[in-house]
Amino acid sequence: MSEAKKGHVLFFPYPLQGHINPMIQLAKRLSKKGITSTLIIASKDHREPYTSDDYSITVHTIHDGFFPHEHPHAKFVDLDRFHNSTSRSLTDFISSAKLSDNPPKALIYDPFMPFALDIAKDLDLYVVAYFTQPWLASLVYYHINEGTYDVPVDRHENPTLASFPGFPLLSQDDLPSFACEKGSYPLLHEFVVRQFSNLLQADCILCNTFDQLEPKVVKWMNDQWPVKNIGPVVPSKFLDNRLPEDKDYELENSKTEPDESVLKWLGNRPAKSVVYVAFGTLVALSEKQMKEIAMAISQTGYHFLWSVRESERSKLPSGFIEEAEEKDSGLVAKWVPQLEVLAHESIGCFVSHCGWNSTLEALCLGVPMVGVPQWTDQPTNAKFIEDVWKIGVRVRTDGEGLSSKEEIARCIVEVMEGERGKEMRKNVEKLKVLAREAISEGGSSDKKIDEFVALLT
Ligand code: UDX
Repeated sequence: MSEAKKGHVLFFPYPLQGHINPMIQLAKRLSKKGITSTLIIASKDHREPYTSDDYSITVHTIHDGFFPHEHPHAKFVDLDRFHNSTSRSLTDFISSAKLSDNPPKALIYDPFMPFALDIAKDLDLYVVAYFTQPWLASLVYYHINEGTYDVPVDRHENPTLASFPGFPLLSQDDLPSFACEKGSYPLLHEFVVRQFSNLLQADCILCNTFDQLEPKVVKWMNDQWPVKNIGPVVPSKFLDNRLPEDKDYELENSKTEPDESVLKWLGNRPAKSVVYVAFGTLVALSEKQMKEIAMAISQTGYHFLWSVRESERSKLPSGFIEEAEEKDSGLVAKWVPQLEVLAHESIGCFVSHCGWNSTLEALCLGVPMVGVPQWTDQPTNAKFIEDVWKIGVRVRTDGEGLSSKEEIARCIVEVMEGERGKEMRKNVEKLKVLAREAISEGGSSDKKIDEFVALLT
């Protein structure tokens, strides 16, 4: 059968970059196996639809019920408005897509939006739940939904350990943030737990992970549901290289120019000498925490590259950027090509918030980590990074959630040159090999993608 003639699927990602990217990446892989994809992004801003030249992927926006002048995060607060308006827009979109020349067969949705499953079922589509966060966090939410784990109202008053099948014992600080305390994010708590409310009606369940990474958890999962782990869907250039044009998460129409100056700067540093620091697309650290990190980096004396988004720059100590430039000790950039950076031989460790994409990227590129987790799935990812995979350390916090400069510096030095650091490097190299094997031809994730394509055609 010729390319792009095998079937048409709709993707409905949760509208955050960290969730959209793994959907785009799966759509690219499906495109190379002959499937046409339409990505539907719920947004307050209308954008004209566009189609990628390299892949059979078209991106459409649908209205999420918010106005262009409203804050981009309003939809994460007014969940009912998002739900009601986006449900209507999605129903209209699918209904009209079904009347087109190439009607869709399936909807692949982010379980953060369980209403999408109900809509797709009503409209007779094959429905696929695609978890872009790891099982590590999602299973905790599952157990809360089942009532098999009850969340304390105040975790400081209840420091007991939580036990889940396939997991090491988790302290309250290791649980996903929305799960560890009922009082702190009541709406988000309900939101993440609700993703399991109708999951059993899904025709298929996918996750951006690979069997060998979470074997005990995956085994338990497989006993409950037929799950297909299809990751890591990190761009192919950094893994199996079977999609040579897949160098980043973007579709060529929206490509931003890579910041070559960063790679040039790294080019002048010795192998494994640079500390790379980045906290993803959402985390906003307190000014106090930014200062502690800045002082820790200066104290260790390593060269550093720090990705600090524009909105966060004012939190850096005054004169920090200028002094680093003057001494040529480090570089603060607004945004870096993170995959190229992690793949660069000069990088010695990655100080990260442990977002799932960053975690997968670090392990696919063999870079040990210093975890500074903040919220959502990050604390649980950090627990596995430190205690299960042993590819990094997690900085400890004081009673107010702050990590001191001494603690951060201790962790960086340990990963860069401690005995445990050497072990971490070996362990992350092993995971790198397993990740590549999983997604390469005939690997466990590649096979699952093939099985999935067979279901669609
Ligand atoms: C969010 C959540 O915070 C995270 O915990 C969840 O697992 C996914 O959704 P985000 O905070 O953005 O994601 O973190 P992460 O998942 O790590 O994704 C960040 C992405 O931005 C990575 O793909 C990384 O390569 C990219 N990035 C970050 C850059 O390309 N350049 C930068 O300078 C910084």
